[in-house]
Amino acid sequence: MSTAKIYLFANWKMYLDATESERMAKQLAAYSKRLPTAVETVIFPSSLAFQGVAKAAKGSRLGVGAQNVYWVEKGGYTGEISAAMYKRAGARYALVGHSERRHLFHESNHETAQKVEAVVEAGMLPVVCVGETASERAAGQTEEVVEAQLRAAYSTVVWPLKKNPIIAYEPVWAISHGTGKDQAGKYCEPAEAEKMHHFIIKIVHDLLPAAPEPVVLYGGSVRPDTVTDYLSEPNVGGVLVGAASTVLSSWKTIIADALK
Ligand code: 13P
Repeated sequence: MSTAKIYLFANWKMYLDATESERMAKQLAAYSKRLPTAVETVIFPSSLAFQGVAKAAKGSRLGVGAQNVYWVEKGGYTGEISAAMYKRAGARYALVGHSERRHLFHESNHETAQKVEAVVEAGMLPVVCVGETASERAAGQTEEVVEAQLRAAYSTVVWPLKKNPIIAYEPVWAISHGTGKDQAGKYCEPAEAEKMHHFIIKIVHDLLPAAPEPVVLYGGSVRPDTVTDYLSEPNVGGVLVGAASTVLSSWKTIIADALK
């Protein structure tokens, strides 16, 4: 890790319903009060659970973020929730361009740019997710794909001068899509992640020259037994965890291990 702060972000995807989310958020809010200020823990619940989770986190050191936003502020957009609405409901961050949005819901690089702009305009920080698929990796296109995703995402935004850009490097082939227990064949070597983080920082410096140091989180099958391997790499500023963040004991172990 190069930054003083460690970012531990929990993407709950569609794993927990509203009741389960609120229950876990209450426990994590209480736990967050014992954490040092050097750690930033943020949960990204489903849109249905968002308000209950934000209420549970209020007054604690637990941050709350949106998994996805729409860029228009309000209007006839059935099924969507705008960045401005999330901000008013208590969100500080929003994931943009998660691989599941890109690959399952066909979100384009152009859409990620509109979302990044809307999130910044609403006064939140976008967590720009980038990463290559297994076939892109096999074809030797990893850097090319990630660079194109970054260039598009930051192409129109006017970056707020004091905010560190946050990027999540999530190789699509290393995402577990499961229970958090099985990582067979999905392990991205920390050294491979580190190489990409270094590359991403270089590109983002080039794209946002006036911005403070970019922070790159690693995501993809992070587990209690692997989190410190990633965090010990100099350009890994934190982690974005899916399945293993949805079980209270495993997420608390990840936080405790990250602080060692
Ligand atoms: P897993 O930790 O379940 O592999 O998910 C990673 C991810 O996509 C986080 O955004």
